[in-house]
Amino acid sequence: KKVVLAYSGGLDTSVILKWLQETYGCEVVTFTADIGQGEELEPARAKAQAAGVRQIYIDDLREEFVRDFVFPMFRANAIYEGEYLLGTSIARPLIAKRLIEIANEVGADAVSHGATGKGNDQVRFELGAYALKPGVRVIAPWREWDLLSREKLLDYAEQHGIAVDRYGRKSPYSMDANLLHISYEGQVLEDPWQEAEEDMWRWTVSPEKAPDVPRYLELGFQRGDIVAIDGQALSPAQVLATLNRIGGEHGIGRLDLVENRYVGMKSRGCYETPGGTIMLKAHRAIESITLDREVAHLKDELMPRYASLIYNGYWWSPERRMLQGMIDASQQYVNGVVRLKLYKGNVIVAGRKSEDTLFDMNIATFEDDAGAYNQADADGFIKLNALRMRIAALKGR
Ligand code: ARG
Ligand code: SIN
Repeated sequence: KKVVLAYSGGLDTSVILKWLQETYGCEVVTFTADIGQGEELEPARAKAQAAGVRQIYIDDLREEFVRDFVFPMFRANAIYEGEYLLGTSIARPLIAKRLIEIANEVGADAVSHGATGKGNDQVRFELGAYALKPGVRVIAPWREWDLLSREKLLDYAEQHGIAVDRYGRKSPYSMDANLLHISYEGQVLEDPWQEAEEDMWRWTVSPEKAPDVPRYLELGFQRGDIVAIDGQALSPAQVLATLNRIGGEHGIGRLDLVENRYVGMKSRGCYETPGGTIMLKAHRAIESITLDREVAHLKDELMPRYASLIYNGYWWSPERRMLQGMIDASQQYVNGVVRLKLYKGNVIVAGRKSEDTLFDMNIATFEDDAGAYNQADADGFIKLNALRMRIAALKGR
């Protein structure tokens, strides 16, 4: 009997590790991923070893995360409920995939995670796990145990020799970070009227404190993905890390949102997504000159569906894969360069160019177009489009 646990090394998953060993008497294999959360991973190894874990997986998944999850999602310009860039949602399917790969490698028939029974994350982990290993058993301790208060959790930890820092300076928020974003939930944020404390934000300066001098950036696109910044070729994870740093300096990408969780409740969260906010703006700008109008509009109609699929945990579903095939096909000509200006929390497009542009200066010009466009053609175009409205008006409607 073996179970693979998604293990951060933090207090909650350390308690889960012990609880699984005690409650199920099973061998626990831990899996800790670097997806750019900016925390040391070696302490997780030491803690797992101290708990008697013999198989410890620590993987650097940063490039895979951005290349195979974040970039494909940004090709769709995905946004949930008009604002959320899906920073947590998009990381879960990768964790689920790796959990299952490890389960198969070590011959485990169960996986476990530290998401609560009230949230979206449990759904995302488990839909992914079942889609990739239909017979897997999932153990979600938060839905089973009675350690439902912070006090009980701390008591359990102390009784089992897990180091706790009761009066430490641990952030009061429930946070989740990866290369795409950092999120904050809980505590004072549970009152949607209450503004977040300025010192909550970790990745961005406030727009008021951002530099008075704007920063220009040139982003090079190939098939809808950013492949270069200011002429320098970068890997997917390097692109996102660089944009996070520069965006953070200019106060880009803060968001305070009340959203609808899949399980039915509304929840309030704050997010910092500096690089993602820049990527979205830039991607729309390069698409604006390289995509056909109807292709672009169809993408926009499907986008909210695609975003909900990701939010609700259906990354590994057949319908998400089908949409992805379409979105990826649309990106064939999405190549070129976008020039942006970053200034006090704003991302402003300053220019765009492409060898594959559909923008025709000769046709669009307000000057003499030398016959490129025949203005007389517009007469019949408008009359036929007006026909049904004229008929209705004649009938007194
Ligand atoms: N509400 C966001 C989402 O559902 C963020 C969740 C953050 N998760 C966490 N375990 N703190 O995608
Ligand atoms: C959790 O329950 O782990 C956090 C919130 C969420 O998943 O939406």
